[in-house]
Amino acid sequence: MFELPNLPFAKDSMPDFCSAETFDFHHGKHHAGYVSKLNTAIEGTDYANKELEEVIKTSHAENNLAIFNNAAQHFNHSFFWETLSPEKQEVPADLAEKLTAKFGSVEAFQTEFTDKATKLFGSGWAWLVTDASGNLEILQMSNAGTPVTEGKTPLLTIDVWEHAYYIDFRNARPDFIAKFWDHVNWGKVGERLE
Ligand SMILES: [Fe+2]
Repeated sequence: MFELPNLPFAKDSMPDFCSAETFDFHHGKHHAGYVSKLNTAIEGTDYANKELEEVIKTSHAENNLAIFNNAAQHFNHSFFWETLSPEKQEVPADLAEKLTAKFGSVEAFQTEFTDKATKLFGSGWAWLVTDASGNLEILQMSNAGTPVTEGKTPLLTIDVWEHAYYIDFRNARPDFIAKFWDHVNWGKVGERLE
């Protein structure tokens, strides 16, 4: 059985980006729904004893979408909450150096990431990932897409499903993404890179 993790911050701690009402729905209804549907789908199957990442990889390989979509969304949302910070943070020097080497500067990375997150058609996720050789890359992934199936290590993500921003920003996805940069847990992103 998988469990809905608690939010690693108070739900009213970043009202300029996601209101308490948004977290009530996004975490308390949407994410909780994925966990609940995942548990129902795996009950009594071989999946019931697997770790989450194994469930994601196996169900993806078997094209078992009922399990894959809910398992991947559980992973993606848990990862997204851990990527957020109530307070604006500085980018750690090591990470800034790597982003600059790949994208030209931290700001250039943010511009490219913003562009890809904004232009992602329909529902999905934008990711900063690294591969085993340390090559950084921005991925646009639709629906429940997740770097777990690509053998890439996720570093940072934003959920651009409408349910992530509709309460606070209505249809204005670019405004939601602009505020995201004030709430990235850069310390955590740096730890993931190590
Ligand atoms: Fe979401």
